[in-house]
Amino acid sequence: MTEIAAEALAHVRWLARAGVKEVPKAAKSAPLTPTVSPAGQGSEGSARSTVVPATGAYALTDKGCGSDTLLTIRGELGDCTRCKLSRGRTNLVFGVGNPRAELMFVGEGPGADEDVQGEPFVGKAGQLLTKMIEAMGFRREEVYIANVVKCRPPNNRDPEPDEIAACEPFLKAQIAAVKPKVIVALGRFAVQTLLRDPTPITRQRGAWRDYEGVRLMPTFHPAYLLRNPPEKAKAWADLQLVMKELGKTLPPKP
Ligand code: URA
Repeated sequence: MTEIAAEALAHVRWLARAGVKEVPKAAKSAPLTPTVSPAGQGSEGSARSTVVPATGAYALTDKGCGSDTLLTIRGELGDCTRCKLSRGRTNLVFGVGNPRAELMFVGEGPGADEDVQGEPFVGKAGQLLTKMIEAMGFRREEVYIANVVKCRPPNNRDPEPDEIAACEPFLKAQIAAVKPKVIVALGRFAVQTLLRDPTPITRQRGAWRDYEGVRLMPTFHPAYLLRNPPEKAKAWADLQLVMKELGKTLPPKP
């Protein structure tokens, strides 16, 4: 019980640091928002969307839900079974961070650690991502972090087209809610999927692109950097372009 209270307090402090001013009481059981079922699954088999009750209630204090809009998106997602990844998940990994972040990171999908903890980038690659964020002059809680898909693909395989199609609208909605100035797309899969561009990441990284009207910087995935440390210099060069765009002071040249 003490542990839960301490965790809740730490989370409220984190929300305050991230700029959230007010936290409404979470509903105990009633859904906060209705969930819209996929078209064609209405009771009469019509092509219309049908409003069905959400199975879970979500609060501004939940990870990645720190604004009314993000909370509504989380409510719409509900206890999602839109694709087959839902069958193997422990936790749906919605996102984490500042609901008004100027910088957003998008990875591929949750791994084993993220699936257990319900938070993106908390494993080894996540620890490196946190270091990269800090090297840029941000705290992890100042940025927003999400993935292309919100449930862990089995054996860490790439998400499949039907899974991306089911999940990407929610990522788009999160981006529209957060309104970041810059998105950093992490790794081959996120870059190629978001940009619909199969060019290898080695040729896409380091050049500004556009995603849904937001400037996007493709760079290497931290897991790749852990396997190929000499490539860190290239990723750092990409992140320096992002820092320049965001008016962050560049560290002095060695
Ligand atoms: N890799 C990703 O792409 N996303 C995560 O959340 C963790 C590892």
